[in-house]
Amino acid sequence: MSVTSRLLLIGCLGGVVILVAAIALHMSKTPSNVHYHTFNIEVSTVKRLCKEKNIVTVNGQLPGPTLHVRNGDTLVVKVNNRAPYNATIHWHGVRQIRTGWSDGPEYITQCPIQPGGSYTYRFSIDDKEGTLWWHAHVSWLRATVHGALVIYPKKDTSYPFAEPKGEATIILGEWWNSNPIDVVNEAILSGAGPNVSDAFTINGQPGDLYPCSNLDTFRLPVMLGETYLLRIVNAALNTQLFFKIAEHDFIVVAADACYTKPYSTNVLVIAPGQTTDILLTTNAEVGRYYMTATPYSSSDLVNFDTSETAAILEYQNTSPTLQSPIFPDLPLPNDTSVAKSFRTSLRSLDSTLYPTDVPLRIHEDVISTVGLGLNPCPLGQTCQGPNGQRFTASMNNISFVMPTVSILEAYYSGINGVFTTDFPDSPPISFDYTAQNIPASLWTPVPGTKVKVIEFNSNVQWVFQGTNIVAGEDHPMHLHGYDFYVVGEGSGNYDPLLDPVDFNLVDPPKRNTVIVPVNGWTAIRFKADNPGAWLLHCHLDVHLSWGLKTVLLVTNGNGVLDALETPPQDFPVC
Ligand SMILES: *[C@@H]1O[C@H](CO)[C@@H](O)[C@H](O)[C@H]1NC(C)=O
Ligand SMILES: *[C@@H]1O[C@H](CO)[C@@H](O)[C@H](O)[C@H]1NC(C)=O
Ligand SMILES: *[C@@H]1O[C@H](CO)[C@@H](O)[C@H](O)[C@H]1NC(C)=O
Ligand SMILES: *[C@@H]1O[C@H](CO)[C@@H](O)[C@H](O)[C@H]1NC(C)=O
Repeated sequence: MSVTSRLLLIGCLGGVVILVAAIALHMSKTPSNVHYHTFNIEVSTVKRLCKEKNIVTVNGQLPGPTLHVRNGDTLVVKVNNRAPYNATIHWHGVRQIRTGWSDGPEYITQCPIQPGGSYTYRFSIDDKEGTLWWHAHVSWLRATVHGALVIYPKKDTSYPFAEPKGEATIILGEWWNSNPIDVVNEAILSGAGPNVSDAFTINGQPGDLYPCSNLDTFRLPVMLGETYLLRIVNAALNTQLFFKIAEHDFIVVAADACYTKPYSTNVLVIAPGQTTDILLTTNAEVGRYYMTATPYSSSDLVNFDTSETAAILEYQNTSPTLQSPIFPDLPLPNDTSVAKSFRTSLRSLDSTLYPTDVPLRIHEDVISTVGLGLNPCPLGQTCQGPNGQRFTASMNNISFVMPTVSILEAYYSGINGVFTTDFPDSPPISFDYTAQNIPASLWTPVPGTKVKVIEFNSNVQWVFQGTNIVAGEDHPMHLHGYDFYVVGEGSGNYDPLLDPVDFNLVDPPKRNTVIVPVNGWTAIRFKADNPGAWLLHCHLDVHLSWGLKTVLLVTNGNGVLDALETPPQDFPVC
């Protein structure tokens, strides 16, 4: 039997078994809280940086609504698309166990919700506490369609740290004066890199370092001598950010809604897609302090927005008119050592209540390159990428081509010809991936809709090898449907014999989005215990648009509770 026909069989069998499972589940599941929300995706007018502009929002808000739930709760979110674009919502970091239909990436787990259409996402929060977020997963809509998802500990349980006095979500974003969808479409047409953003934002506000933005500044009032939990999300499209608070250290306690060992620092680095929870103790002199987010760029060949966004931490009893805020010492945008030191200092909490469980016996061992490339300019056109060509990006030399039916649906319903199952387990050509001068004959990847099939419950090790094709840079790789342990990273080319010796299998950080360092590699491990079609991609949206992605197709297990649920009644059709 070929892999494809075996898959179809599993898909169909899964369908039969699921009816029984749904009934059994219904009766046995202990009731948890169910939260109902309505998201209207709509065009709203906002004023930023001296200009009025129409943007696509959820419920007219930028950022969109923050959802508050407890670990174990269920969310039911009805999304009405009243915007002139196709839309979906991805629940970034939610595992969607058996509910892959609600994951959100267009043409991977669903067809988009077309203008005028609706779709209700239903899913539970499984074994997760901390900060996640939600965002559109169509084109660059997520620039303005995003918000936080705050997950508190279960009732009658507490944080693994003292209860904070208060908390705030800090969503870092990226703002364009023009329509972000036009920015990416223009880049795809011309083959060049997209225009960089015009501002960074904190909770949708550029802050008073930008023109006309005195009032557009997020302010956080605090009392002296207390501890606050700040939930930081990087919702920027293409930029890693340094975050600092003048004259304050803070303690990192979680990343991507997984608790970490407390780590004290005065700067954090956060990549698009990541979240970081910090405890801030207000032990400085009573006063006003800037909290800043500034760009971190791992490559001097890549253009980026060099501006700075700031919010203000305001101690009670300070006078805004008398005291101008104190400014932090900012790291240089190219400070790779600060970024590396932050990233590699994180460890999972690894306590009795929050144990670490790194897979030791590996069944699927994949090495994939991640990086850029160039496509020749079509005859008769002019292209504005390097050497008059067009930018592209790939994993293992495959530049992912979006299908027109969702991969999950094709798998589940046995629709042929949508994807192939031959994503390579290692780079098709071995070369010096991180060399200064990689031969141009290697620069052009192959387009394809290739997925990697993984048997249910396999232990997976996936090594991402950055390449220096066109320009090496950091790639924040995000896996849908899973958290993974980051067991190692290094510079240069990964050595499958020597490097695993130094892997941290004791207390590696657990996350859903990890940096592959510029001209280096990162290794992750996870148990494939969640059936579905899971997007694995670079969370720099420009690279995602160029094809730096693939799909992990995890088969149904044998047990009724190890198989996908049936698709919802209102599932969008293409
Ligand atoms: C991108 O930048 C160029 C040069 O400043 C400008 O002409 C163009 O209109 C911009 N495109 C968009 C979509 O904003
Ligand atoms: C970083 O940028 C600064 C200022 O532009 C420059 O002087 C320095 O050489 C750069 N450092 C590296 C490692 O490229
Ligand atoms: C990618 O595949 C193309 C087409 O076979 C080939 O020309 C190119 O050298 C390959 N590049 C790499 C890095 O494997
Ligand atoms: C919106 O989705 C429909 C259905 O998949 C598709 O036919 C159409 O091309 C999409 N529109 C855009 C602008 O991508």
